[in-house]
Amino acid sequence: MSCSCICSFTSSISSSSTLTSPRKSFSVNSTPIIHSSLQGTVTQPKSSSVAEPLLLNAVRGKDVERPPVWLMRQAGRYMKSYQIICEKHPSFRERSENVDLVVEISLQPWNVFKPDGVILFSDILTPLSGMNIPFDIVKGKGPVIFNPLLTADDVDQVREFVPEESVPYVGEALTILRKEVENKAAVLGFVGAPFTLASYVVEGGSSKHFTKIKRLAFSQPKVLHALLQKFASSMAKYIQYQADSGAQTVQIFDSWATELSPVDFEEFSLPYLKQIVDTVKQSHPNLPLILYASGSGGLLERLALTGVDVVSLDWSVDMAEGRKRLGPDVAVQGNVDPGVLFGSKEFITNRINDVVRKAGKGKHILNLGHGIVVGTPEENVAHFFEVAKGIRY
Ligand code: CP3
Repeated sequence: MSCSCICSFTSSISSSSTLTSPRKSFSVNSTPIIHSSLQGTVTQPKSSSVAEPLLLNAVRGKDVERPPVWLMRQAGRYMKSYQIICEKHPSFRERSENVDLVVEISLQPWNVFKPDGVILFSDILTPLSGMNIPFDIVKGKGPVIFNPLLTADDVDQVREFVPEESVPYVGEALTILRKEVENKAAVLGFVGAPFTLASYVVEGGSSKHFTKIKRLAFSQPKVLHALLQKFASSMAKYIQYQADSGAQTVQIFDSWATELSPVDFEEFSLPYLKQIVDTVKQSHPNLPLILYASGSGGLLERLALTGVDVVSLDWSVDMAEGRKRLGPDVAVQGNVDPGVLFGSKEFITNRINDVVRKAGKGKHILNLGHGIVVGTPEENVAHFFEVAKGIRY
């Protein structure tokens, strides 16, 4: 990283924002210096392996100097280093089910950008084969469920998930990641939410109008409820397993719950999310849980009813309004439009500052409003992290 790069980014944030203290200075290859009015100049302590990661402190409402930052889908195809691995290992299932590859891919963004969160490289669909639902993720097509579930008999064939038997590589990878990252960042695990998983296994893959799952929900609700219940108890176990293996926080993706109207969300998603949160909180009361749903503006208050610690906002909601609607007890994550990363560096800086200012001090994890998009320039991602990590409340 060159000196001119650092100087230009610090000056660009100071000039466009009231967030950064002008009394902060950086020097190349050294620890940032913070000038304190009380004690003169102090060197900011290097993150030690004993101190809690910034991300956990922020979620718990502790006094933090800046928002922690990571990006959803931060490991993946926008990175040249990931594309090189894909050439050698063309199968997504191999890349996501082999401990060495999972660790290597999870650490790719960590090695380059040093985010405050390192998410396991995996997929929400990874548990499916262990639940007797064969699937693949096909290049150019996305997820494919070979035998979509449509009847009560199909649902009967679904096995409850036993993570330590079906996905031991996930536990091993998390344990290694935790050692590698040494509390300099938080290791994140994740699971799919029951409704979103059900949408894939009923539709047979990605869907535009979600007609098959809606047909099932609105004509044979008992069958869908039986499936949702299996996913709820399985995913609660999966979160517990991830936490026991090293995950310090777990994000629940209910990406497609917002395809449901509020009244149907209350029937087909909310109770199962609540059940997962309640079960995990009993065994792991200090494990922060993050909930993400795409396009969640109409459901924000209901997402908070699940009891999660953090609600991850997509970019359809203004951060200040989202914060107000969720209230002071819930932390927020997000919510920069992933498309912003295709903009100029100045635009990226402005949008980061806008979100951070609107989220206010503390209880905010800076992130995108959905996964990073294929084709995003890596240098813009580097800029995003540089600006984010230079912010001071
Ligand atoms: O954040 C991370 O870096 C961790 C990795 C991660 C992946 N999938 C890897 C992946 C995470 C957190 C997921 C979650 C996931 N998977 C979600 C929830 C998040 C969201 O986007 O709403 C969903 C809905 C899925 C299902 C899924 N997996 C789809 C729809 C696709 C196809 C996307 C495409 O563009 O092909 C996948 C495949 C997938 N999972 C990829 C990655 C990096 C792309 C395929 C590849 O890299 O070969």
